[in-house]
Amino acid sequence: MPVKFHKNILCIGAGYVGGPTMAMIAHQCPDYRVTVVDVDARRIAAWNSDNLPIYEPGLDAIVRSTRGRNLFFSTEVAQAIKDNEIIFVSVNTPTKTFGAGAGMAADLQYWEKTARQILTHSESSKIVIEKSTLPVKTALAMECILNGAEKNGIHFDVLSNPEFLAEGTAIKDMTEPDRVLIGSRETESGLKARHELVEIYARWIPREKIITSNIWSCELSKLVSNAFLAQRISSVNAISALCEKTEADVAEVSRAVGMDSRIGAKFLNASVGFGGSCFKKDILNLVYLCKHYHLDEVADYWESVVRINEYQQERFILNMLNAMFNTLAGKKICILGFAFKADTGDTRESPAIFIARRLMEEKADLVVSDPKALANAREDLKGASGSISFIEDPYEAARGSHAIALLTEWSTYRGLDFEKIYRDMAKPAFIFDGRNILDHQKCFEIGFDVYPTGKPPLTHF
Ligand code: NAD
Ligand code: UGA
Repeated sequence: MPVKFHKNILCIGAGYVGGPTMAMIAHQCPDYRVTVVDVDARRIAAWNSDNLPIYEPGLDAIVRSTRGRNLFFSTEVAQAIKDNEIIFVSVNTPTKTFGAGAGMAADLQYWEKTARQILTHSESSKIVIEKSTLPVKTALAMECILNGAEKNGIHFDVLSNPEFLAEGTAIKDMTEPDRVLIGSRETESGLKARHELVEIYARWIPREKIITSNIWSCELSKLVSNAFLAQRISSVNAISALCEKTEADVAEVSRAVGMDSRIGAKFLNASVGFGGSCFKKDILNLVYLCKHYHLDEVADYWESVVRINEYQQERFILNMLNAMFNTLAGKKICILGFAFKADTGDTRESPAIFIARRLMEEKADLVVSDPKALANAREDLKGASGSISFIEDPYEAARGSHAIALLTEWSTYRGLDFEKIYRDMAKPAFIFDGRNILDHQKCFEIGFDVYPTGKPPLTHF
């Protein structure tokens, strides 16, 4: 281990969070040596190649300038634990699929395995930082595992430092975060560990944005932040259904409501539903926690955010069926956009997965198009029975189709030549805009029958 580095930092888990966050620390703190390890050798090989395992605007440049200098990716988990005194843990914490709490509770097996690995391989005291999103009180379990063994006077301080980056804007979010949250025990060594972590972030983030708190508030704040964000989307999506019945326009309603500074304008875009690896999982985790504490009414309240999200996706299919004469069988449908949002190739929990599967149940022939997510889309739809093809070029994908279902707000879709697309489609040609990003009036004038979300349709019949 070279001595020239001021601190040695490790992150276990080289995913959508571990890779970008550690690249940012390495970029901002050239005198720190940052190592990222993962059990997935393919992922590590990709981090060490020119073809990074995730698409994130701005990430390539940061990795290129730090990798091999003070940022290292490796599969040597045991050695890395020995060598580093500050360890972030950013492993996956998906929803449990088996046993008690299946479909709701967080699956903490990767988390606990990591804790035990840290214990096994540590030869000196460490600061262990929860970066993964976890149920409140998980740090207690971590402390029990790490400090319960009383290993040769080695002491572990466990901190919570949840990540708030959103995919597609991760670099910006990490460069100028609204806040950084650090929770610790309020003991002498807990406060010392907290100070160490504050000093890392203070290298580039104004101190007033680095909030410290008790560790349980910190863990809970992450779940609650995601629940509040998702709640806003479900709220506006619920209103979009009412708009479609009343000839109100959800964009106008959102604008009017969001201009109240107490409400705020962000996260009020009606859509085909929220996706991503975290909103649903974290709300269900919150629901499970509430049930655990016998707060059934509170659990029901938060669970309804997820139910409205499912309703919104099913409503999209029913609107298509209703508009297209109650049958999609044998009709070619072009799905424009498969990622769960723009500027990422990530498709985890993307509404497009549900919609593609439902369209196939209706016996439609699918063509899926996306600029970055086709490899993931192929995996997601593996085993789905029916006719499906994957074509990156949107013009080719739409050729001969009866309808376009726009499911991701890629900015490139706004600039497509819809006259050309219309010419090559079967007639009547339908557009279902699940993101409200197109110029609906223009598409209507070209000849399309246009079905936005939460706005009156523009039809020729
Ligand atoms: P991910 O699945 O992309 O990455 C997790 C990585 O951990 C995987 O590569 C996996 O191989 C590795 N891993 C699992 N067990 C391991 C072990 N024992 N040793 C070494 N590596 C191990 O997940 P992600 O999207 O990066 O999310 C990680 C955590 O961060 C989750 O708790 C998530 O809720 C939270 N989070 C995610 C985001 C996001 O935008 N994706 C944002 C904020 C918080
Ligand atoms: C979200 C949060 O925004 C991050 O702060 C958090 O760190 C992260 O979850 C996490 O814990 O994983 P992310 O899921 O990457 O980030 O992306 P968002 O921008 O929040 O979008 C989530 C979904 O909501 C997307 O499908 C998006 O299209 C949808 N959305 C968003 C809407 O439908 N309408 C909106 O107004 C905003």
